[in-house]
Amino acid sequence: MKPVEIARGIYNVGVIDWNIRDFHGYSTECGTTYNAYLIVDEKVVLIDAVKKEFADQLLANIAAVVDPRRIDLVISNHTEMDHSGGLPRVMHAIGEEKPLYCSKMGRKNLAQHFGEKFAYQPLENGQEMEIGSRTLTFLETRMLHWPDSMFTYAKEDRILFSSDAFGQHYAGYEMFDDAVDEQMIMGQAKKYFANILLLYTAKILKLAQQITDMGLEIEMICPDHGIIWRRDPAKIINAYVDWSRQEAGKKAVVIYDTMWKSTRLMAEAIAGGIAESGVSVRPIHIRSSHRSDIITEVLDAKAVVVGSPTLNNGLFPTVADVLTYMKGLRPKNKIGAAFGSYGWSGESVKLLQEELAAMKFDVMEEGMKIQYVPQAEDLEKCREYGKTIAQKVLAQAR
Ligand code: FEO
Repeated sequence: MKPVEIARGIYNVGVIDWNIRDFHGYSTECGTTYNAYLIVDEKVVLIDAVKKEFADQLLANIAAVVDPRRIDLVISNHTEMDHSGGLPRVMHAIGEEKPLYCSKMGRKNLAQHFGEKFAYQPLENGQEMEIGSRTLTFLETRMLHWPDSMFTYAKEDRILFSSDAFGQHYAGYEMFDDAVDEQMIMGQAKKYFANILLLYTAKILKLAQQITDMGLEIEMICPDHGIIWRRDPAKIINAYVDWSRQEAGKKAVVIYDTMWKSTRLMAEAIAGGIAESGVSVRPIHIRSSHRSDIITEVLDAKAVVVGSPTLNNGLFPTVADVLTYMKGLRPKNKIGAAFGSYGWSGESVKLLQEELAAMKFDVMEEGMKIQYVPQAEDLEKCREYGKTIAQKVLAQAR
């Protein structure tokens, strides 16, 4: 990717990672980008870097705009190695004595990765910095999604450099939201939110309020992954607020795995009963779907219905995997329900109910448990169970 001037004197000098398909366990079917931004003013400023293996590409992109040694200071909005792994190479090229600005927590985290070899300059929340014709303001955004995360706001340009927030894992030569299909990119933004930010929704709502209270005018949001939002930046901010409220509509998901197809038959019958009642639903077979896509479906579902056969007196391991992942991301305000087939002991439904209760879901008292292979009348009971779940969804959905 060649550097692109995204506003007067401001360049995206980041790189495209076309081939990444697994980002610490999150499936990235569209690849991703590591965006980094160069501001050429009286001072030349680099905001964020890239993964270690792309550092030379970043330097080449910078060199296409200015000699890297002309960079006066570097700002690290976030320590995670997809944005900082290339810092040692970059600092070596521009001069290791140059100031490296970061949040106070960033100073600690960067030192824990790179030692004390750089001139770290911790910033206060709300601190301003003149770089010539521009003023940069720094906003701590702790736990969005690391303790060190911060935003950098360029006041005169009304540009928010938002680090991981508002990102999407999408690789493309298109650089702006107006150049890509809106539904596709919002889908990727939703997946990103569900997998990276869902557990911090209370903080996101507070931050959105803080941005409103500060009266920050935002014409462009430049995240560190994916496209830049310029057509209507409020759209992605409003989507974050909406997702953070976790007020689901008339939607359910039926998530299951199966050994000899009995739990699958139950899943499809339950989903059929839910759909007949006017609630949107998909049966999701865990071994045919990635956990990061499953959690994306969970994000705006009112009911999470989970099915597992009993294996060795316990849950099927793939179901336990998804539940562990889901529990960590802390979805809220969900109805939970459990089902499964079994051979002789049949503990899975009770175990599923306990897992869902531990996530503070409103768990249906009755689970649906069938021995060996469901017969026609059993599938009818499953359909009825689906209808009962749907009634609860309709009563509670927004
Ligand atoms: Fe894109 Fe949290 O790193």
